[in-house]
Amino acid sequence: MADTYSVKLEPDGRTLTAEAGSNLMQFLAGNSIFLAGTCGGKGNCRKCEVLIRRAEGDEETSVLACQYRVSADIRVSVPAASRVSIATDDRAARAAAIVPSLVPLDPITERGISSNQDAKEGLGLAVDLGTTTVAVALLNMASGKPTGFSTTLNQQFQFGADVISRIGYSLEGDEKRKSLTLSLMESVRVASRALLSDAGASASDIHQVVFAGNTTMLAMLLGADCSPLITPPYEAPFTSAVFVSEQDAGKFDTLGFPQRTRFELMPAIGGYVGADLLSGLFVASLHEPKRPLVLLDIGTNSETAVLTKDRLVASSAAAGPAFEGGRSAAGCPRWQGQSNMSHAKPAAFHIR
Ligand code: FES
Repeated sequence: MADTYSVKLEPDGRTLTAEAGSNLMQFLAGNSIFLAGTCGGKGNCRKCEVLIRRAEGDEETSVLACQYRVSADIRVSVPAASRVSIATDDRAARAAAIVPSLVPLDPITERGISSNQDAKEGLGLAVDLGTTTVAVALLNMASGKPTGFSTTLNQQFQFGADVISRIGYSLEGDEKRKSLTLSLMESVRVASRALLSDAGASASDIHQVVFAGNTTMLAMLLGADCSPLITPPYEAPFTSAVFVSEQDAGKFDTLGFPQRTRFELMPAIGGYVGADLLSGLFVASLHEPKRPLVLLDIGTNSETAVLTKDRLVASSAAAGPAFEGGRSAAGCPRWQGQSNMSHAKPAAFHIR
């Protein structure tokens, strides 16, 4: 048995080298080809099917990439239905136009959100770590205004579509927990590099990076033990804001930002109600409502908050299985090629 084998991608034409025994799904993910499998490689969802041929002229065979080990030179064709690519649209540009009028210029420091007093220069990044999508905004630190947005697939998707699958994976050992952290970091790196390149800037211009996201994603970013989230009373590993000290900043080296960069994590509310919901409340200026309000954050992990003058009540539930297919055969997230917007006008109904 050889030590390595060639994996030729069709119709891309690229030829890669895989170590003998490599898991095909993980090998493809390592080469930026992500499959739509949602069960975390357990062989249940059948959404990671690819076509394999051993030699020219051979019949193509359909296999589940997550169950296939490379043991010969092969040609691999990935059907469009199995390939993941996050759809983009003009939503980011519209958000850029709206956000400056919503963000209060004096952050609510008493709740643990940084006032950025030491870093009002250069560029900063605001990162939302979603279960399916990682979204990044580039900000001018002097004005506090966003200058661009970018989204990418959360590369943790290869380990499962939902947070429960990924927590289960993280509990299978330190190496697996580390691979979740690295794939999340890589997603941030990919999205931020695209954004900086579009802005004609570079990683060395970044002074501060602030992360929001659900409690699982924030815990996985720091490589924390997520077991409290799946055992009663289902508490988050941490909910307070985290200001990463200079000594610990090395954990973020893989992002490639300068050593002076300040890394901060927004505070969460509790359990499965994360910093993403709190950020939503903050941005929409709903933290001091004049009358009762409801905020819905519908994502793979969805949260609802009801606010009154003196009370905040929040809950969460997994919406991924309902809207994105999850472990069912039908449905998928907002991949490229799916309809992602509809307009109803008196004379016509448009879907794109
Ligand atoms: S069957 Fe392969 S990822 Fe689900």
